[in-house]
Amino acid sequence: QSLQSLHTFALPAKCQKLVRITAPEQLHSIDFTNPFFILGEGSNCVFLNDFNGTVIQMENRGIDITELDGHYLVRVAAGESWHSLVIKLLDMGIAGLENLALIPGTVGAAPVQNIGAYGVELADVFSHLSGYNLDKQSFDTMDKSACQFGYRDSVFKGALYGRFVITEVVLKLPKQWQPMLDYGPLRDLASTEVSAKQVAERVIQIRRSKLPDPKQCANAGSFFKNPVVGLGQVNSLRAHYPEMPIYPVNEHKVKLAAGWLIEQAGLKGHRIGGIRVYEKQALVLVNDQQGNGEELLAMIAYIQKSVFAKFAVELSPEVRLIGRDGELSKGVEHG
Ligand code: FAD
Ligand code: EPU
Repeated sequence: QSLQSLHTFALPAKCQKLVRITAPEQLHSIDFTNPFFILGEGSNCVFLNDFNGTVIQMENRGIDITELDGHYLVRVAAGESWHSLVIKLLDMGIAGLENLALIPGTVGAAPVQNIGAYGVELADVFSHLSGYNLDKQSFDTMDKSACQFGYRDSVFKGALYGRFVITEVVLKLPKQWQPMLDYGPLRDLASTEVSAKQVAERVIQIRRSKLPDPKQCANAGSFFKNPVVGLGQVNSLRAHYPEMPIYPVNEHKVKLAAGWLIEQAGLKGHRIGGIRVYEKQALVLVNDQQGNGEELLAMIAYIQKSVFAKFAVELSPEVRLIGRDGELSKGVEHG
């Protein structure tokens, strides 16, 4: 079974078997003792080679909205499209997800890396989720604190890695809407009265100007995480590069812009085989000439090495890299 059209980076990989889940109960009958990989729309994972196992694709559907006194509870099946949900809710007059418009992928994958953009992350609108716990072989509900959300992180990448299939996500959206316009490119909207739809339109416009549409040019969004470094290191870097963008995390740590580091290392447009560093956003890699897994690994190593040589900063992939026997991101964590 080919996986090329099932992940947005579109490498020519295959898997032994593909199972499509349209109802959560089907999970009971899957043999999880054999190698498996849970897949949504494949916009945050790359199959480097043929995968020796079963790919389980989440395709269950359904959206159920409950109106309470101060907020809406929106219950969404894992296989629903995230962006379609954002637009559907805005059309119904339910706001809160507008900053997260146009993020590809399924609702079920959104908690895995706690999707975020333009100053909002999933954790801000999250109530709880349900899913199948492989160790207990039963369905479980998890609240926000149990999910351990962090920057591009959650318990599903840690202690529950590969042990929990998310089947449903419940969002809590206050009726009293507060626009979130702190992120640089949205700030000028703060001077006028804006609607949530207008915020979404602006977010979509900005994203279209820098991020390639996976339907036209194979990519997986930001390839690396923005690195979080200590204040000592950032002060010495800033002495050399006063214009370097920084985002405070807490009183000891700061987040750097990996795209800026890659651009300053002179890598915009750099090509290895079919893989290229995207010109409009150096944090994005594109597979525009039928690249393969080896070329991609060579590109990852070259970017990590070049950025480390210039800034002594380590870049870790944000995208999940899947090899023959499962995920190998951990092996390329710091170059
Ligand atoms: P997949 O790629 O299919 O899976 C991702 C991971 O989640 C895998 O490890 C998979 O095993 C696991 N998984 C998937 N579904 C489930 C489930 N139901 N239960 C348990 N585990 C599951 N991300 C952001 O945060 N912000 C952005 O602004 C952003 N912009 C992007 C722009 C582009 C052009 C692209 C291509 C990607 C972007 N991304 C962004 C990344 C991506 O959209 C998100 O990570 C999204 O949540 C992935 O959804 P998916 O269904 O495609 O997941
Ligand atoms: N920059 C450059 N050159 C580049 C790219 C960026 O100088 O080639 C600079 C920009 O000018 C800006 C800063 O770096 O000053 C940050 O860039 P941008 O606002 O484009 O955001 P980002 O940090 O590159 C992050 C997320 C995106 C998310 C945007 C908006 C990560 C890894 N990426 O990108 O998420 O959409 O912020 O919030 O955190 C994704 O996860 O796939 C993704 C696209």
